[in-house]
Amino acid sequence: MMKVEEDLHMVGGAGDTSYASNSRLQEKAIRKTKDIVEKALKNINGEVVSKSLVVADLGCSSGPNAFLVISQIISAVMEAGCQKAKEILFLLNDLPGNDFNTIFRSLSLYEKKVKEENGNQVLPYFVAGVPGSFYGRLFPSNSLHFAHSSYSLMWLSQVPVGIDQSGGVNINKGNIYISKTSPPIISSLYLEQFKRDFSSFLKLRSQELVNGGQMVLSFLGRKSSDPSKAELCHLWGLVADALNSMVQEGVLEEEKVNTFNMPFYAASKEEVQQVIQSEGSFYIEQMQTLESNWDPFDDSDDDQAFDNVRVDTMWPSV
Ligand SMILES: C[S@@+](CC[C@H](N)C(=O)[O-])C[C@H]1O[C@@H](n2cnc3c(N)ncnc32)[C@H](O)[C@@H]1O
Repeated sequence: MMKVEEDLHMVGGAGDTSYASNSRLQEKAIRKTKDIVEKALKNINGEVVSKSLVVADLGCSSGPNAFLVISQIISAVMEAGCQKAKEILFLLNDLPGNDFNTIFRSLSLYEKKVKEENGNQVLPYFVAGVPGSFYGRLFPSNSLHFAHSSYSLMWLSQVPVGIDQSGGVNINKGNIYISKTSPPIISSLYLEQFKRDFSSFLKLRSQELVNGGQMVLSFLGRKSSDPSKAELCHLWGLVADALNSMVQEGVLEEEKVNTFNMPFYAASKEEVQQVIQSEGSFYIEQMQTLESNWDPFDDSDDDQAFDNVRVDTMWPSV
């Protein structure tokens, strides 16, 4: 059985198959949330910011997108004259298997870029890596002013409880995610796991954010209310077909495919909203759905299917 915390990571380095070279879709998501991030930064309670603004990026991965987030936040803080912030501490979080080395090695290169984009008078900033799961505590209590996460919260903490029945029977055999041929209970098991995970994410962040802190979260989500009709079911269905063909050709053990399920859930806007409301530590300030063309290099019919939400901590936060 897959152990997400130990096993999950994007492909490191900067080669052709690396995440760094294949994350244009995610880059678009970050660029599209620029305004929402600016608004959130302006909304941070000024009284709680002293000289240093502390920002966390949760699920930063490695590659240019991690720096794009840094650069966008620096410009937003500089433009908005954000509170009293005179310097920024960026805490870049991902799972321990993430290629943090590539981030650290590229820092000086990106420092030059940040200066090109923001001028030489750029606010001093500091970068630190924080390995660990965002489904656990990562930062001291009341230490963050702003938390950001893009394209990461669709990853669950584990394959949904209940899919692997006792005796090693996988009730979603032949599939690796929710599919039209999955038993109906599979969708509910995925939704329940998403609810548990996202609720604990919110609870933990509410302990780490200061009162009046802000969060901007972008999810890879779905438009359809029926989880088995989502675009991503089609995508994972194609991967399952390929794996099943490999079993037929004898290059992959049947047992391995039969016991594999994705620790991933594409939530709908309503599901995200419902978890935030019932967990209760945050309220939603702004929520919007953005749609992206599946071809990452084709920007023609982009616009409105990932969900994006800006949340404020409740005052006082829990
Ligand atoms: C698709 S990448 C997104 C990276 C980056 N934010 C971007 O927009 O390009 C998702 C990242 O989330 C990380 N991730 C998944 N589950 C996580 C968890 N429980 N805690 C921390 N990071 C996690 C993965 O390792 C991966 O690097």
